[in-house]
Amino acid sequence: MNFYIGIDLGTSATKGILVNGEGVIVKEESANYPPYEKELPSGWSEHHPEYWFEAVKIVLRNLSEGLEEEVKGISFGGQMHGLVALDKDDNVIRPCILWNDGRTEEETKYLNEVVGREALSAHTGNIAFAGFTAPKLLWLKKHEPQNFAKIAKIMLPKDYIAYMLTGVFSTDYSDASGTLLLDVEHKCWSKELCEICSVEESWLPKLYESYEVTGKVKAEFGLPNAVVTAGAGDNAAAAVGTGTVGDGSCNISLGTSGTIFLSQDSFSVDEKNALHSFVHANGKYHLMGCILSAASANQWWIENILSDRYDIAERMGEKLGKNEVYFLPYLMGERSPHNDVNARGAFIGMNGATTKEEMSLAVLEGVAFAFRDCLEVAKENGLVVKESNLCGGGAKSKIWRTILANVLGVKIDMVETEQGPSFGGAMLAMVGAGEYASVEEAVSAIVKSHTVALPEPALQQAYEEKYRKFKKLYPALKSAFADLAQ
Ligand code: XUL
Repeated sequence: MNFYIGIDLGTSATKGILVNGEGVIVKEESANYPPYEKELPSGWSEHHPEYWFEAVKIVLRNLSEGLEEEVKGISFGGQMHGLVALDKDDNVIRPCILWNDGRTEEETKYLNEVVGREALSAHTGNIAFAGFTAPKLLWLKKHEPQNFAKIAKIMLPKDYIAYMLTGVFSTDYSDASGTLLLDVEHKCWSKELCEICSVEESWLPKLYESYEVTGKVKAEFGLPNAVVTAGAGDNAAAAVGTGTVGDGSCNISLGTSGTIFLSQDSFSVDEKNALHSFVHANGKYHLMGCILSAASANQWWIENILSDRYDIAERMGEKLGKNEVYFLPYLMGERSPHNDVNARGAFIGMNGATTKEEMSLAVLEGVAFAFRDCLEVAKENGLVVKESNLCGGGAKSKIWRTILANVLGVKIDMVETEQGPSFGGAMLAMVGAGEYASVEEAVSAIVKSHTVALPEPALQQAYEEKYRKFKKLYPALKSAFADLAQ
């Protein structure tokens, strides 16, 4: 029998699934990374690629135990934008600067204001956001010139794993889109951006479509028949996993980050560049809004603040549509649409009788409103979203699904598993290994979704009113956030 492995290289853990040729999940495994040992300034975020690889090896071993010969393919959905830099002997030069790191305010400003948004958008389809890879390279050059001087290869997180497994230095177009070094429309590295960021062509991996085979797993890993397929950034992989591949289809990922992923058959750019314009894992394109704290905002609230078992979901429901507390979820700054590294979390509207349930509900609503901000930009671009798939850890929460459906005014569908990126990774592995002829064919054969939440007129109306007020909060606080960051 043929089996395939999909790896989701996440921010705090690696999750993996083993599927059979029909796409049925037969095993799931995960391994957490040891916590990052260094205390970092507020808004910074790093981790060790070596720890990721240790976790991936554990997951691969556990998934394939007893089936080593039958595993025919492996692929990935990987956290995007991270800067992994290797020296000439393939040693990792410094910890990876992650997608949610906000240290590059100055470099992002330089790129957007001195090089200029129009030039960036013309060369790459995007402007600079603090988490993207290119501003991190400028930061490294300025702040750690000794490390910058050692660079022989730069790669994205999942590409480091693929390199360790196969020895092949490769990436895929969807993930490469988030470097700001790729000319997204023409699917090639941008000579202009490489020059601006002092990146030598030899440092860059070879580009593949997400479903193309890049190499074979090295003998030492004991999977003799497994080919490795390039894989995708986690959002494009999640979109494949939820069947979000046609023109106009939408996927919302409620994971550590939150993304609204708008699949498109042809390349287009959001006029304000608030949405990213990236390649999709099926070889086409997508627009995407990314909020930096989604399920992670709720996790922070439950673990760090409530320090509680989460047993108030039922009681929160009583306040749906009536909650007077507002929450801004910008714990790590915000990407879409505000592009503001200084923004931070805020609760507003409490009074002497406010309860823990109302504040908990406000967290879920605040994340939904941040998605709505992105959806508003999509609407300005003429996109009509009436329904969306949903994945990510937060998708398990019934009340959050109801809130999203009503704040966004869309029908929410889910596949059986909320594990988008690993399922999409497994599907890309299947296409690479020839089990299916294309991503679209794999989607129509494997992905079955059902509706989990519908907008209800009264609740939708209540949330329209609350969103109208929410929308005014960030502009009112913007300069205070900048002051607080001084
Ligand atoms: C997307 C983004 C995040 C990470 C999370 O642009 O930065 O969704 O990929 O892993």
